[in-house]
Amino acid sequence: MDYQWYPGHMTKARRMMQENISLIDLLIELTDARAPQSGRNPDIDSLAQGKSRIIVLNKADLADSTATDQWRECFERSGILTAAVDSRKGSGVRQLKPLIDKACAEKLERNRRRGIVNRPVRAMIAGIPNVGKSTFINSFAGKAVAKTGDKPGVTKGKQWIRLNKNVELLDTPGILWPKFDDREVGMKLAIMGSIRDEITDEGELALWLIRYLLTGYPEALRERYQIDTEGLTEQEDPALDILGRIAVRRGCLKAGGEADLSKASKVLIDDYRSGRLGRITLERP
Ligand code: G4P
Repeated sequence: MDYQWYPGHMTKARRMMQENISLIDLLIELTDARAPQSGRNPDIDSLAQGKSRIIVLNKADLADSTATDQWRECFERSGILTAAVDSRKGSGVRQLKPLIDKACAEKLERNRRRGIVNRPVRAMIAGIPNVGKSTFINSFAGKAVAKTGDKPGVTKGKQWIRLNKNVELLDTPGILWPKFDDREVGMKLAIMGSIRDEITDEGELALWLIRYLLTGYPEALRERYQIDTEGLTEQEDPALDILGRIAVRRGCLKAGGEADLSKASKVLIDDYRSGRLGRITLERP
């Protein structure tokens, strides 16, 4: 999905979020498992104040599972429940229902003590564009769910999906803006394809990714492009040299036989996004 943020756009998104958040007890925040911090909204903690929270690390199929575990531990230490899922295949999605019950247990108990028994806990999904909100909702609540329409106590026009006798989910996800004024964040989001490519020069993205792979995942370059990275890290900045070698390996050449670095950059980024470079997480807690 193409998504450009303008000030008016952001104000509208914030207003929608504030309105929807006032209706719910539990916020299920989706982030990208490949960059769990950069894939979040910078204002989420203040927006979600007083709400129960779950963070879902989506696209876990593309992320390094060791890093995913570290991120989950990090979020859980701050008191937020987490799950790692692949919404496209549906794996891990089943752990959400017990997790929601756990996150809402206190609220349900409080309601019960006050004599409120038939009021379900209400939840919503939110996240930045392209993080997989629609895919997740389909996978999680797509089948065999009855939509509950307008009824007393439910704001007109809002549709709720009944998950079980205790929990209802707002059927439209909240769209949050990323922290795109931070260059590193923007770089990671662009590499993952979460923001439009035009924002950052592709060559720049490719060089950033190569430098990152050299420090954390040199085997990805060896295995995918047969590039020997031994001893390379000693060099000052071998990224440009490696990009040239990727061009040659993958036949990205200009008419005169010169390496086409722009084409090679596209190949590399595409290989990363599709998982062909392996499961690579772009940041650690
Ligand atoms: P959004 O509502 O948050 O904007 O995101 P959406 O569900 O549209 O998903 C954005 C892209 O991410 C889609 O790919 C979707 O298939 C993919 N995606 C969502 N969840 C996962 C996941 O857990 N793992 C992987 N590998 N991909 C996921 P697309 O290329 O835009 O569309 P398509 O190829 O599915 O047609």
